[in-house]
Order: sequence, then structure tokens, then C-alpha cells
Amino acid sequence: MKKITASVLALFLAAILSGCFNTPSEGASEATGSDKSSFEGSEAPGIEVVVVEEGKLAEIKSGEYTVKSGYTVLVNGKLRCEKDAEIVVEDGGELLVNGELEVSGELLLEGYLAVSDSASVCGTGTVLVNEFDDINCEGRFTAKITPPEPVVTNGVTTVGGVIIVNKAITISPDYGNGLTAETEAALERMRRASGYEMPVISGFRDYETQVAVFENWCTKNGIEEAERFSSRPGHSEHQTGLTVDVTSTADDFAYTDEARWIGDNCYKYGFIVRYPKGKEEITGYIHEPWHLRYLGESTAKLVHDSGLTLEEFLGVEGGDYRDEYVFSRSNT
Ligand code: DAL
Ligand code: ZN
Repeated sequence: MKKITASVLALFLAAILSGCFNTPSEGASEATGSDKSSFEGSEAPGIEVVVVEEGKLAEIKSGEYTVKSGYTVLVNGKLRCEKDAEIVVEDGGELLVNGELEVSGELLLEGYLAVSDSASVCGTGTVLVNEFDDINCEGRFTAKITPPEPVVTNGVTTVGGVIIVNKAITISPDYGNGLTAETEAALERMRRASGYEMPVISGFRDYETQVAVFENWCTKNGIEEAERFSSRPGHSEHQTGLTVDVTSTADDFAYTDEARWIGDNCYKYGFIVRYPKGKEEITGYIHEPWHLRYLGESTAKLVHDSGLTLEEFLGVEGGDYRDEYVFSRSNT
């Protein structure tokens, strides 16, 4: 973190007293001696770090307040962005929240947002996210998140950098070559913290393996039943290298202490239970308490706190397949 000088603190107190970030007082401008401006549209010299002190409230009442590239806004008290206002964090700018950020208008995030574990982002407004990696959230996040549009690159769909695969969204047959190092490391951290062994009964599955797995379940259970818990090839999250099935897939796994622990805690290690109970219409699959998807700690926490499925969180289509399955020759 950048060093916060006494003059910056003095400046910021003045800015708070002015009641609005958009119109910093003359006195405040003089206090810095800097030739930069963090106030969009203002001629006044600005500062590199803006601090909302503990116990203080700073309000952006209307218009746009920009955290420019190279600038940091540190919120130890409370920063309120009112209904008619917008905060823009430019690429290279950062907003660090140790207190409270209330978003009743819009926060457009192109730079970095950190929310410490005792902090919160709340309000009835929305945070427009560009890349989920731009957020490091350890605290409470109850403001709405508006994700960017999905992007398809080489047959892989991402939303804000998060890969999404489901019955409506395919993954290229040649994608993937094993579990990612991050997924393995996170699983190991979770194992150690939980005290459970959590053996992985299935991790990465390539396209060909998924053909065999899916068609095998179809032979055993019939396609209608199989499709409720097994993906067609080209539609399985196991092909991303970000997914593991832990321990037993026995019917009663959901009622074990281990499954309960996973459901309550896996987000702290960067995982979500990808197919939650009662969401078959949206995710396309029955509750699978063993099927964990790695998203990274911050994004997993955001999804967990939202109470949404990944489809809803990312604003993408889900539900059932759009077409009939054509069995491979091995099954005919
Ligand atoms: N069991 C999940 C849905 C899969 O086959 O990928
Ligand atoms: Zn699985």
C-alpha cells in the first residue's frame, strides 16, 4: 500500500467537510502540493491516496467520481455513493474498503476493489464488474453485481474471466489437460483445514472420457435419468480442470458431516458446490454435494454470499439441452 502522508490526511478531512468528492475545496487542493488530480472534471490539483477516516462519512451525492489510474481511495470509515451518483474506478486505480462502501448508484469497476474481512459493500445499487479478478473480497458483499457479457474464445465461454460450461454452453472438445495447479493447491488447503481426507474420485475428464462416462450412465439408467446427473461430452465442467468430485457419490453423502462441512466452508478455499439443492431448473442437474467448482477465494465468496447459482451470478443461460443427443458409434 502507498504511504499516506499527513498532508493527504489533512486534505481528505477537508474534502469530507466539503461534503462531496466532486467539488474539493480550495483549501484542500492547496494542502497537497501535488499536480495530479483524482477528481474528474476538476482543475484542482489532486492527491494519490484519498482516505475516508474511521468514523467519518463521505458522500458522493450526484455525478461521476473517478478513481484515476495511479490513485487509491482508502475507505476506513464509510463512503456512500448515492442513487444519482457513479464511482468509476479506472484501470490502474484502486478502491480499498476497510469500513463500509454503500452503493446506491453505480460503481463501475475497471480497476481494483479490495474488501477486507471486517468490511462491507452494501446498498441497493450495482457494481459493474469487468473481470472478477479485479475484486479481492474477504468481507461482506451484499450490493448487486452486474457481470459483463459472455465472451467465447477458442470454443470456451468466459464471463469476466470465469469459465462457464453447462447444458446450454459447450466447451471445445480439445480443451483441458488436467486439474489446474490452483485447483489442486486449494483442495489441499481445504483438506488440511477440514481434517477430512476428501479423496478425489473424479477430477479432470477429457472429452473422450466424458463420452464413455455419460454413455455408460445412459446404458445403466436410461438417458433421461442419466442426464440429470451426468453431462454429455462437451458440456461437462470436469473438462475445465477446475472441478473435482470428492469422496463418495453415495446417495446419503449429502447427510454426512463431511458434506455439511463442505457446504458451509468450501467457499473459504475458493470452491462452490456447483449444483445446489432445488436448482435443477437453472443448473440442469440434481443436487451434487460432492461436485466442487474452483473459482478462487474472492469469487467463490461473492457467489456464496449472493445465494445464487453460478448461472444466475454470471447472468448466463442454463437449464436443459437445446437439442437431442447423438450417441457415439461405440454405443450403437
Ligand atoms: N456430474 C456432472 C454434471 C458432470 O457429469 O459433469
Ligand atoms: Zn462432478
